[in-house]
Order: sequence, then C-alpha cells, then structure tokens
Amino acid sequence: MSLANKYGKWAIVTGASSGIGKEFALYLAKEKINLILISRRSKDELANQLRNNYGVEVIALDLDLSEPDNLRLIQKEIEEKDIGILINNAGFGKAGNFMNHDIRVYSEMIILNCLAPVYLTNLALEKMLKKRKGAIIFLGSLVAYQPTPYMSVYSATKSFDLTLGLSLYGEYKKKGIDILVVNPGPTKTEFHKVAGSDGGYFQREAPDVVKTAIRSLGKKPTVLDGIINKILVLAGRFIPVKLSLAITEKIARSIYVKN
Ligand SMILES: NC(=O)c1ccc[n+]([C@@H]2O[C@H](COP(=O)([O-])OP(=O)(O)OC[C@H]3O[C@@H](n4cnc5c(N)ncnc54)[C@H](OP(=O)(O)O)[C@@H]3O)[C@@H](O)[C@H]2O)c1
Repeated sequence: MSLANKYGKWAIVTGASSGIGKEFALYLAKEKINLILISRRSKDELANQLRNNYGVEVIALDLDLSEPDNLRLIQKEIEEKDIGILINNAGFGKAGNFMNHDIRVYSEMIILNCLAPVYLTNLALEKMLKKRKGAIIFLGSLVAYQPTPYMSVYSATKSFDLTLGLSLYGEYKKKGIDILVVNPGPTKTEFHKVAGSDGGYFQREAPDVVKTAIRSLGKKPTVLDGIINKILVLAGRFIPVKLSLAITEKIARSIYVKN
C-alpha cells in the first residue's frame, strides 16, 4: 500500500530547507504526498521543483518555530488538510562548554527541539485519531541515548524527543497511529556548522537517515541509523554511568571543543 493510502494525502515536514528534512520532503513528494514545509528560510525553489517534478501540492511556510506565536499560525494553515504524516525534524544544537552560550540560545533550542514537536503533534494527532490512521516521526539522536558533555542542552532536548515519541507510541499504537523515533548519529548536513563543530569522522548521509526511518515506520517504536551508532549505544548499556561519561567526555571534547 502506498504511504498516501496508508496514512493520508498531506504531510508536514519541519526543517525542510536543508539536510534530513529536505530529504524527507523529496522522498514524500516522490510518494505523491502533498507537503506543508516549515522552516525560516525561503523554500520557494524547492517547492517549485517538487511541484514540477512530482505533481504534488506544496505549501511553504517560512516561519521561526522557536517563536511560540508562530506555532499558533500553523493551526490555521492545516485546518482543511488531511494530514497523514508529521515529521518533527527541525532542530539545532550548540557545541562547547555549557557556559559558553547565552541562555536565549538555549531557550530557542528548547522551544524548537521540544515544544514545537509537542505542539505540532497535538495538532496532527487530533486529525489522525478521527480517521484512526497517521504517522508521526520524531528526530532523536545518538546523544538522546548517551548524555553528552559539551552538547549538554542539545543532548537533553533529544532525550526529551526520544521519551516523548516512545511514550506516545505506547499510548497510540492501538489507535492506528504509527509513531517512530529515528536516531541519527553524525550525519553530513548543516547541523555541524550551526552547532560550531566538525561532526567527527564517521558521518552518514541525510538520505540514509530517511531510508532507515521509512523502513522502520510501523514496525518498531525507535531505530538508530547506521551500524556503528547501534554498536555505540549497545556498548554504553554495559558500562557504569561514571565510566561511560568519562569516555564520552574525551570523545565529545575532541569533536565539540575548539582549542
Ligand atoms: N546532522 C546530524 O549529525 C544529526 C544527528 C542527530 C540528530 N539530528 C537531528 O536531525 C534534525 C535535522 O537536522 P539536520 O541534520 O538536517 O540539520 P540542518 O541541515 O541544519 O537542518 C535543520 C533544519 O531545521 C530548520 N530550523 C532551524 N532552526 C529553525 C527555527 N528556529 N525555526 C524553523 N526551522 C528551523 C532549518 O531551517 P532554517 O535554517 O531555514 O530555519 C533546517 O531546515 C534535527 O532535529 C537534528 O537535531 C541531526
């Protein structure tokens, strides 16, 4: 069955102007799903490309999701739409010592990474529950599983997304809603430039993350992208917290702290 038949004709993708979100938009357009794309930068070029190449309808909203007032604007935009899929993807992190960043940056990060997914999930679920079908994907991270020095607030926001997604999976699976948390490790996108880090050596590509997510949707509540990331999380389960933090601190310092 096609994704459009299984879930509905429209998808919302946040953070669609680059990286993993843009790849989700491309994938869903190829599946003939109409799109509501949300992020701050203009997405006119991408929207036209998707309309022309795949014949889908695209609404591009250039909105800052770290502004709670903007979250309310989205409700009106989706009122009449058969929302079948929500991809809670927009997010950013900041690398370095906790005290290096302004508290306003952390506030924006928490609103974007945590409040926006709660708000949008609430809007989308209302529609999905009426027809007893729908899919919601959250972007967790490797650092959602492993508390990460020099990425502390970001790591905490991703643990929030992981816990939120898994809890909702438990609550809504029997009501016909497929919920998945996909957890990438380092992936080649603009994320690392925004975070102020180099992202380390072993980076996967954004389309890998999308493929992993789509393969797992409806089959399991959570998935890690890539075998190395799976091994890292598994290994972490057998080590005492103190030791695991000491090892993570060394690795994270080499990736996230500039000399
Ligand atoms: N890349 C990695 O290594 C990695 C690893 C684990 C998890 N993730 C997660 O994957 C998700 C996607 O990140 P990515 O790797 O694709 O990074 P990216 O290329 O930097 O994309 C981030 C997206 O979020 C949007 N965004 C940022 N701030 C926003 C705001 N205030 N309001 C609305 N949209 C905003 C950006 O668009 P605008 O700038 O146009 O607003 C962009 O489209 C994030 O949740 C991230 O935490 C990434």
